[in-house]
Amino acid sequence: MAFICDCRPLNHTTVDTLIIPVFTDDASAPQALDGLAPAADDRIRAILGSPEMSGKSGQLIPLRLPVGAGVERVILAGVGAAEKLTAQTIREAVAAAIRSVGPSGARRFGIVPRYGSLAPTDFAQAAVIGAHLASFAPDSYRSEDARPIRIEALTFLTPTADHPRLDEAIRRGSVIGESINFARFLVNEPGNRLTPTDLAHHAQEMANEVGLQTEILNEDKMRDLGMEALLAVARGSTEEPRLITTRYAAAGGGGETIALIGKGITFDTGGISLKPAENMEKMKYDMAGGAAVLGAMRAIAQLKPGVNVIGIVPSCENMPSGKATRPGDVVRSMLGKTIEIINTDAEGRLILCDAIAYARRLGATCLVDLATLTGAIAIALGLRYAGLFSHHSDLAEDLQAAARAADERIWPMPLDREYRELIKSDIADIKNVGGKHGGSITAAWFLREFAGDVPWAHLDIANVAWNAENKPHMPKGPTGFGVGTLTEFVMARARR
Ligand code: BES
Ligand code: MN
Ligand code: ZN
Repeated sequence: MAFICDCRPLNHTTVDTLIIPVFTDDASAPQALDGLAPAADDRIRAILGSPEMSGKSGQLIPLRLPVGAGVERVILAGVGAAEKLTAQTIREAVAAAIRSVGPSGARRFGIVPRYGSLAPTDFAQAAVIGAHLASFAPDSYRSEDARPIRIEALTFLTPTADHPRLDEAIRRGSVIGESINFARFLVNEPGNRLTPTDLAHHAQEMANEVGLQTEILNEDKMRDLGMEALLAVARGSTEEPRLITTRYAAAGGGGETIALIGKGITFDTGGISLKPAENMEKMKYDMAGGAAVLGAMRAIAQLKPGVNVIGIVPSCENMPSGKATRPGDVVRSMLGKTIEIINTDAEGRLILCDAIAYARRLGATCLVDLATLTGAIAIALGLRYAGLFSHHSDLAEDLQAAARAADERIWPMPLDREYRELIKSDIADIKNVGGKHGGSITAAWFLREFAGDVPWAHLDIANVAWNAENKPHMPKGPTGFGVGTLTEFVMARARR
């Protein structure tokens, strides 16, 4: 998976495919590249001056060059106006450019740095993340015709020696890009190949690689801790549940302890409140919050911020069976609150409430959970913005800033006390569903009850974790949403 990223002039490389970002206001070509034959340079310039190339973001013009040109092919990638260039545009342009030549044998990519309004380091980080995103293929189980995109190198074609060194930004981009792909890999695995036990193994392996401590609890341990809510979801399945904890300890202590908590339902049938068959296969992605947490922990372990972080992933399978939880059952959560389970398909909040209690037991001073929690979030926000819920405005603002930095979109949702009324139970402290209105908000309120006074925020990512349509920069499948935001959030907390 890993490939070499570096900075060098073109004539010191073996680049086969050159990516040139093109601005809309960019009639003239970038400065001539040493190592490119003059004829090739002229050809590129001719296209740049023509109406064919608008430079609009998303435009891609691939050119094959004759033997001896210096590179085999050039991709002119429109990136919009220079003064409005964003990291997202570069990330998507690089990913789309690499994907567009994917099966052609292109392996060694060069990119002409054209920063526009971006800092050179932001440009480099975004391009490296884009290259990593392009290298993920969701059809890994295809026996024939699988056309994985293999990247051996991405080189920033820096013209002179005094060009700013981009090494640190390149490294950060690689760490984040690889971690996003790690999350995408986990989310893409089908339910039969990624049980809670398997998820714990992958977490353990990742933790060993990057040097995180781990602790994996089985069913007996959960029972000892009083996690009846989590166990109520796990009961119906023959697969054992796991509570996966990974820990990053800051050198020198670090004051606060941030807990990142991710929903890890490896398959959600709905349980006795069974889901309809249509689209049920998608419910393998119900562990995307957990995958994002593990991806972020992987990045954090390598970026080494000065703050303690624990990543907690409660994981089980939500199945119907003769042993499964029934609608109407009442359980006592780890925190002591009793829960009437009205609908067994509202299982995410049941596993998360015990994970939140566990995070508090471990000394968390800040709680951020990520979950594919409700279908209703797509009704409220469509498919662009994840929902952000919090009872702590500073934390919500920090997460919004982190999401902006990571080029992920999150939008604040309300949590007024009126919504709490909707999850009052007739026989217990709380019930797990709140009726047909404001489904994402009542779900968030349920979680809030368990956070108590600890600063807490919740991201409902059910609408953004899975990309339903092929796009030039991203195939149908898992997006890795949340890895970037969580990583940026932790890095920024450590800096303040
Ligand atoms: N995992 C689902 C939410 C979901 C739906 C994720 C669609 C991704 C795409 C969650 O466990 C669930 O089933 N939620 C129910 C809640 C309801 C029973 C109150 C829902 O959204 O229908
Ligand atoms: Mn469900
Ligand atoms: Zn679910």
